Amino acid sequence: MCGIVGYLGPKNPKDVIMTGLKALEYRGYDSAGVAILHEGKFKRVRAEGKLGNLSEKLASEPFSGHLGIGHTRWATHGKPSERNAHPHSVGSVSLVHNGIIENYVELRQELVREGAVFESETDSELVAHLVDRQLAKTPNLLDAVLQVLPRLQGAYAIVVVNEKQPDTMVAFKNGPPLIVGVGDDAMYVASDIQALVNYTRRIVYLDDGEVVEVKGPSYKVFSAAGQPLQKKVNEVNWTSEVANKGGFSHFMLKEIFEQPRAVAQAIQPHINLAKNSVELNGVGFDVNDVFRDIERVFVVACGTSYYAGLIGEYMIERLARVPVEVDIASEFRYRHPVLPKNSLFISISQSGETADTLAAVRLAKQAGVKVLSICNVRSSSIDREADGHLYMNAGAEVGVASTKAFSATLALLNLLSLALAKAQGQSTIEEEQKLVRQLLAAPSQIEICLNLDKFFKEAADKLKNYRGFLYLGRGVHYPIALEGALKLKELAYMHAEGYAAGEMKHGPLALIDKDMAVVMMVPHDELFEKSLSNLEEAKARGGQIISIGTGHNPRLEEISEHYLSLPEVDWFTLPLLEVVPVQLLAFHVASSLGHDVDQPRNLAKSVTVE
Ligand code: AGP
Repeated sequence: MCGIVGYLGPKNPKDVIMTGLKALEYRGYDSAGVAILHEGKFKRVRAEGKLGNLSEKLASEPFSGHLGIGHTRWATHGKPSERNAHPHSVGSVSLVHNGIIENYVELRQELVREGAVFESETDSELVAHLVDRQLAKTPNLLDAVLQVLPRLQGAYAIVVVNEKQPDTMVAFKNGPPLIVGVGDDAMYVASDIQALVNYTRRIVYLDDGEVVEVKGPSYKVFSAAGQPLQKKVNEVNWTSEVANKGGFSHFMLKEIFEQPRAVAQAIQPHINLAKNSVELNGVGFDVNDVFRDIERVFVVACGTSYYAGLIGEYMIERLARVPVEVDIASEFRYRHPVLPKNSLFISISQSGETADTLAAVRLAKQAGVKVLSICNVRSSSIDREADGHLYMNAGAEVGVASTKAFSATLALLNLLSLALAKAQGQSTIEEEQKLVRQLLAAPSQIEICLNLDKFFKEAADKLKNYRGFLYLGRGVHYPIALEGALKLKELAYMHAEGYAAGEMKHGPLALIDKDMAVVMMVPHDELFEKSLSNLEEAKARGGQIISIGTGHNPRLEEISEHYLSLPEVDWFTLPLLEVVPVQLLAFHVASSLGHDVDQPRNLAKSVTVE
């Protein structure tokens, strides 16, 4: 997940672009760069590390032109380095990219066969090669982009410029966000509003598959087929309170949209990008030493944090082959648990102050068991009493309903299961690298799922009329069903229940009729046929089906009122994507009911009493 900015106007592009990149630095900060016109050529300046390193390099650089692009990077393909930093320049073309080109291997092979020479390890550079190659046939930048677009598969938000058209920027997106800022005498393109709020409040939101040509102080938007489109110019009302909520209506919605960043910030400290390997850093004990001898894992938490722990159980047992026991803290603390010496006790708590979880931590400490805390608040009570620490790094979570902390926790459990598998000799380097690459791609894929916000906003009025909701899932997707049900309960105050889909025949099927909504996670995996049968049983009894699957699925679409297709990823990171639609469903139904979404009735952000 990266930050991109483009500027065309009378000001010095360096100042505008660096101000924008500073506002976007949260989207990734392992390297940065700019390409700005100077005496008819794009002068490119890039630096590894934080934006400050680039600022230092730019301090003495003159720029005579009025067109430029900039980028701050979250590495997915190719380690953080100046060589892999954006912008990428090929011939007269320079571009910046946020996202992932999924068919980059075949495209790169095709280009290399044609003699292309790559300077970086990134997928983004190949797009610059494709556009440069196309310009030889179609000299107009917009036309060249329209010819290249059909070749690209995956998630991308790209801004491209061409030295031969020094008054033009072309930008296009599929998945990650991209907006156009309309100034009085200047034009802007950026990943999000925060980059432009100092320059304009007039914003055009690009939708997937759209292309914008910025020419002089004006712009035109086209479909991927080149059809001109009319787009609304939104006046952004950016008050300080709105700024606090990042321009969102509620803190919860802002925090749902912060999940790509939250996952990126959770995993960043623990991934060796040069090796694509996991190295849990700053835990507070020797991870390999401790993990090597672990014979049992206990995971204890409450509410949403407990559901994250259930997902951790599937990951740890599948990868590390160490038995896991997950407990609700209020049950654990009173059931006289047996805690063998060579156990690892993991507490999960966003606040670090939940009374039952803190009590469970103290019980584990008394038993002499190593306690590892997964927490979002440093120096909180649980954090202080634990032996080891993994931090969610999600930033303050204001909404009472937990969202980004849950996603950050899942990402940390991804890493923990890999680290435990490695220490226990249960994984190969190749398996570890494959799963690390999947995790690195997750922020961009979560961004794509956030596009479902529009669907749920429109569907909420109908969804709120159902008598109740049954959420279903199998395997690692079952806890997502539990979390989805909890979100609807705590926000919309509606009856909702999460169930293991295989349990339907053992009772819940009796609940189903035409007033009951059934929300099911149905990934295209080894249990797909069984899950489909569950849905067909519910459909036959009048259930209204909302299915959340992966990729194109005619059979699911046929039996579903709504079929929501997520990016096709493996079980390892799919829960990170599946939780987005169930969060958005609950948020928009609660909003349409007029509830106080950030502070639902009867609840508190941190339950510091039993
Ligand atoms: C989740 O949306 C709720 N806010 C609640 O279930 C919460 O997860 C639970 O109280 C645990 O809080 P903690 O993570 O701060 O310990």
